Amino acid sequence: MKIRVLGSAAGGGFPQWNCNCRNCSGWRSGTLRARARTQSSIAVSGRDAVNWALVNASPDILAQLKANPVLQPGRAPRDTAIAAVVLVDAQIDHSTGLFMLRESTRPLQVWCTDGAHADLTGGNPIFRVLSHYCGVERHELKPDGSEFALDGIEGVRWRALAVASKPAPYSPHREAPVPGDNVALVIGAGDSGGAAVYAPGLGAMEAPVWRAMQAAACVLVDGTFWSDDEMIAMGLSSKPGREIGHLPQSGRGGMLEWLDKLPAATRRILIHVNNTNPILDEDSAERAQLTSRGIEVAWDGMEIEL
Ligand code: MLT
Ligand code: MN
Ligand code: ZN
Repeated sequence: MKIRVLGSAAGGGFPQWNCNCRNCSGWRSGTLRARARTQSSIAVSGRDAVNWALVNASPDILAQLKANPVLQPGRAPRDTAIAAVVLVDAQIDHSTGLFMLRESTRPLQVWCTDGAHADLTGGNPIFRVLSHYCGVERHELKPDGSEFALDGIEGVRWRALAVASKPAPYSPHREAPVPGDNVALVIGAGDSGGAAVYAPGLGAMEAPVWRAMQAAACVLVDGTFWSDDEMIAMGLSSKPGREIGHLPQSGRGGMLEWLDKLPAATRRILIHVNNTNPILDEDSAERAQLTSRGIEVAWDGMEIEL
């Protein structure tokens, strides 16, 4: 099983078009050692290595497909390696890329929870709009940890676990989240038995996802903010990270404390990194702290084999 990181940044990407934070302006002026990153998405392939599941459809998907030619096998005049799409939530950065796939020659096979489905047919009716193009065949993603398989992706076992986070700002139930608005995915290699946990939005650590992380060979988890008040301190938002559904890395009960408790052999990767996060600066003290703890920062094009 292969996991390829298509986009390692949070909503807005890095640099963000209208942002002049230290990171974004430092990247533009060339004074910061950091890689640009597109918005949040990974792709997963199984035994046959031709077909891929797209996990989250980022607004940057067209650039991501150009950067990853393996996703275009070229078997027919119109073709794609994307056999299925799995959504961890209905946020803009994870779902609006579906519009860019509207030329598909068959309905998009999209797996999402009932909560995400309600938002993608209601608050942001992407599925209804796409019914005028290629259409969407929606498959129910149950956020209860039950195992499922994706047609065309052989030898990969999937499970979805509800996580504490937030539905999208446009959601009619933004302030009354339901289980399954956001999920973590447990993606298991049928052959090697090793599993990865992918959770780009994780507002608080709860028992089911923590158990899955402890059993995983690799975790790709919420790397949005270094500190809870990061956006407030920069004058960019009035809300702490936790309140918008992202557990910060530093501080008591932060992601670093959790990652430190994982078995020594677990590969630890932060993903969905916001452009304000100091870990993007490869010369920062925060990045050095990650390195000393054995924690990696995902980058676009990173590949993980399990
Ligand atoms: C989030 O992860 O909190 C959202 O994706 C932010 C956004 O898309 O604007
Ligand atoms: Mn996001
Ligand atoms: Zn910025």
